Amino acid sequence: MIKRLFDWLKQPLGLIAVGIGFLAVFSVAAYGLSTTQKAPEQPIQFPHKTHIAFGIQCLYCHPGAAKGPAAGIPSQAKCWACHQQIAKTETSELLAPLKEAVESGTPIQWVPVAQVPDFVHFNHRAHIAAGKNCEECHGDMSKVTIAENPQVFNMGFCLNCHIKSAGEDQAKLNKLADCGTCHY
Ligand code: HEC
Ligand code: HEC
Ligand code: HEC
Ligand code: HEC
Ligand code: HEC
Repeated sequence: MIKRLFDWLKQPLGLIAVGIGFLAVFSVAAYGLSTTQKAPEQPIQFPHKTHIAFGIQCLYCHPGAAKGPAAGIPSQAKCWACHQQIAKTETSELLAPLKEAVESGTPIQWVPVAQVPDFVHFNHRAHIAAGKNCEECHGDMSKVTIAENPQVFNMGFCLNCHIKSAGEDQAKLNKLADCGTCHY
């Protein structure tokens, strides 16, 4: 019975059924996601705006973006290396949780905002190597106080740019639009 089901699932009609099942489940998930696209309550009200205006580069705090799949979030040791030299750190209420985390050695639990579902394969490095800017996907962070995700990372968002980037190059288009490039 199970084997017959799997055989059927491998037929074109079965594949379509799986696709529709997938769509139904994930449209609900995507709806849930889109209604929560706003800045979450973070353990520290970290202002991107202030730090970018101070001249700190994205890659100083998120160096993983140039090296691998994940951009990464800076450790509190990295925050502290700079903040222990800043007078305001002693008195700012906004910085009290940072001081506390460093003194007690408990890692800060940031709430993720920019995410794709587990069944999607994304790699920062390939995009940075191809000359894409952070801003194309994350918006202008120099205007952001608490990070929120201005883009919903749906399939159209990825595919539109992939098709545009491939241009007339058919081999590149085949690769960048192939389901297996983003889904295993
Ligand atoms: C001084 C360090 C610092 C700098 C500089 C910085 N960031 Fe961040 N970034 C953080 C921290 C800490 C978080 C986690 C807190 C949050 O989400 O608000 C974060 C979160 C993010 C997120 C949300 C990630 C997630 O899902 O939680 C994005 C996107 C992001 N940064 C992009 C950028 C870009 C683009 C730049 C440059 C224009 C930049 N950052 C510069 C420290 C920094
Ligand atoms: C390279 C230096 C540098 C690093 C690294 C850095 N900051 Fe800052 N941060 C600053 C400066 C400069 C200010 C502005 C201070 C002022 O207004 O006098 C600031 C301001 C802040 C404020 C606002 C304070 C207030 O009262 O307005 C918070 C919160 C903050 N930083 C948290 C963090 C956290 C968390 C990290 C690590 C993820 C971090 N910072 C990393 C330099 C840095
Ligand atoms: C082509 C689009 C694209 C570009 C360009 C891009 N990102 Fe991302 N970023 C994403 C996607 C998609 C995610 C969600 C990844 C996931 O869930 O695995 C993400 C996640 C993040 C996160 C969350 C934490 C993590 O470890 O991934 C941070 C921080 C971040 N990006 C920073 C940056 C910075 C800084 C740059 C520029 C140097 C950048 N991104 C360029 C699409 C992009
Ligand atoms: C702003 C344009 C842009 C957006 C948006 C974008 N991509 Fe890409 N993507 C590219 C380019 C350009 C390449 C590199 C093509 C090359 O290798 O020449 C690429 C390559 C890739 C690769 C192949 C990586 C490798 O290791 O060869 C994957 C996987 C991928 N993108 C996934 C995604 C996903 C998932 C999203 C959406 C969350 C996305 N991309 C959004 C432009 C984009
Ligand atoms: C450039 C990357 C990329 C390519 C190529 C791609 N997808 Fe996706 N796909 C995504 C992303 C990102 C999502 C997550 C959408 C969300 O969270 O709303 C997704 C979601 C899905 C879903 C879940 C339904 C939904 O909309 O949420 C299905 C089913 C799916 N893709 C099938 C396919 C098939 C079949 C192909 C080939 C024709 C394909 N994908 C090619 C990036 C891609």
